Amino acid sequence: MAGFLSGLTFLFGFLCLVSFPAEAAIRKYQFDIQVKNVSRLCHAKPIVTVNGRFPGPTIYVREGDRVLINVTNHAQYNMSIHWHGLKQYRNGWADGPAYVTQCPIQTGNSYSYDFNVTGQRGTLWWHAHIRWLRATVYGAIVIMPKQGITFPFPQPARESEILLGEWWNTDVEAVVKQGTNLGLPPNMSDAHTINGKPGPLFPCSEKHTFAMEVEPGKTYLLRIINAALNDELFFGIAGHNLTVVEVDAVYTKPFTTQAILIAPGQTTNVLVQANQVPSRYFMATRPFMDAPIPVDNKTATAILQYKGIPNTVLPVLPQLPASNDSAFALSYNKKLRSLNSANFPANVPLKVDRNLFYTVGLARGSCPTCINGTRLLASLNNISFVMPQTALLQAHYFNIKGVFRTDFPDRPPTPFNYTGAPLTANLRTSAGTRLSKIAFNSTVELVLQDTNLLTVESHPFHLHGYNFFVVGTGIGNFDPAKDPAKYNLVDPIERNTVGVPTGGWTAFRFRADNPGVWFMHCHLELHTGWGLKTAFVVEDGPGQDQSVLPPPKDLPPC
Ligand code: C2O
Repeated sequence: MAGFLSGLTFLFGFLCLVSFPAEAAIRKYQFDIQVKNVSRLCHAKPIVTVNGRFPGPTIYVREGDRVLINVTNHAQYNMSIHWHGLKQYRNGWADGPAYVTQCPIQTGNSYSYDFNVTGQRGTLWWHAHIRWLRATVYGAIVIMPKQGITFPFPQPARESEILLGEWWNTDVEAVVKQGTNLGLPPNMSDAHTINGKPGPLFPCSEKHTFAMEVEPGKTYLLRIINAALNDELFFGIAGHNLTVVEVDAVYTKPFTTQAILIAPGQTTNVLVQANQVPSRYFMATRPFMDAPIPVDNKTATAILQYKGIPNTVLPVLPQLPASNDSAFALSYNKKLRSLNSANFPANVPLKVDRNLFYTVGLARGSCPTCINGTRLLASLNNISFVMPQTALLQAHYFNIKGVFRTDFPDRPPTPFNYTGAPLTANLRTSAGTRLSKIAFNSTVELVLQDTNLLTVESHPFHLHGYNFFVVGTGIGNFDPAKDPAKYNLVDPIERNTVGVPTGGWTAFRFRADNPGVWFMHCHLELHTGWGLKTAFVVEDGPGQDQSVLPPPKDLPPC
């Protein structure tokens, strides 16, 4: 009902804007966090939801709007919601990561996320940002261009959101707890889902299949979101090409592909032409994994259904790349370029004020009660991040001492052959709440280097509060003498989440023009939990509009 109402609000707002084009609207939403029984794969269980819906409601806004989302927590868990990819200029208070920008909303309490959508249009998403609750607490954010501005690609007849997720048959928080107690990765998911549904290749799933009806000759826009907790995914549609036009709410140079690759946290908009023999075609998604690590490799499906074709017609499956196809991943990511047009320029920082080099590593820490006496840890520059009890942004804004340190090192303590033979040596990984301080408006280059500590693996890194430009990537060790010469400083892809390739590196740049405390972490929930995260403290600037805004009155207490 609330979703229906908000849909109406959107339509109404839309109509208003037709007559008063200059007026920026206020979009209001009520999110009730409530537990609901849901059944998938013949298993019923209570899940945490927004407004009883799984996936949760879509937020529809227009570039320039103000958004007010009041979250009321009726569940037994503490809650906080992150608006993934929204820049929240000076307004980290509305960003959402628990203990980073706010303390969580406790049972029975409310908090109103109040923010402006400035300079962004496209697909983003929202999700719970505490424990593993985002397994079921997530939804799409659709930002339409300003009134009177069209997409820089053919206008679709219709659009549809495609949220890719993961499903566990048992309670996810219990699964995680068991893993933590053993010091091992928790059980992997039992299925992937498309819009919350695993599709007909799974038992008891006839009802739980998403279908999208199309008419021959028309073009459709799919807003694809990877909301999975731990799996990088391929997605394709049998018999149909996909034309990529946007990622992470940034327009791209269009290119056509049979399958897309999308990491947790990322979004991809594609155009699909209904230009095949009218029939039923499977959309399918399954993981990409090119390291020797077990994954839930089952295929979730949905159906692209031409109008008038009976449900008795059996769809065919698309040919997705092999699960370990690193070559596909490399060439796909190479095709991603910013549109870099007059209206949507790629403002890549050409000079760098601050060079950062962070290694990504796994380690074993001691855990006397765990199964082998050890537990798995993950670290950046050998530091496994420890979450504080007070929100970092509050500690920064109110100058509360003892919550965090700002001595996160700009490079690893001891250089080594990062991607050589597997290393198990204990590199003295230490635990700490250590952040890096960045001067306002300085330009930053960060090279993220995967290592072979325990194993190589691909890691999708997400930076809050910013988009960045992915200027370079490669396999093996980053070479500071040679690799920068090969950077793309003209039209590199701009985004908020980027994959560090298995046994390789990724370099990105951004201008630190958004003051506050901004989380950066691996978007594999498993690794975040192990400590693969840190945050940047971007200092206030000297100007009037260059400092962190005062906190809202209803900010949850710590
Ligand atoms: Cu989508 Cu900090 O996460």
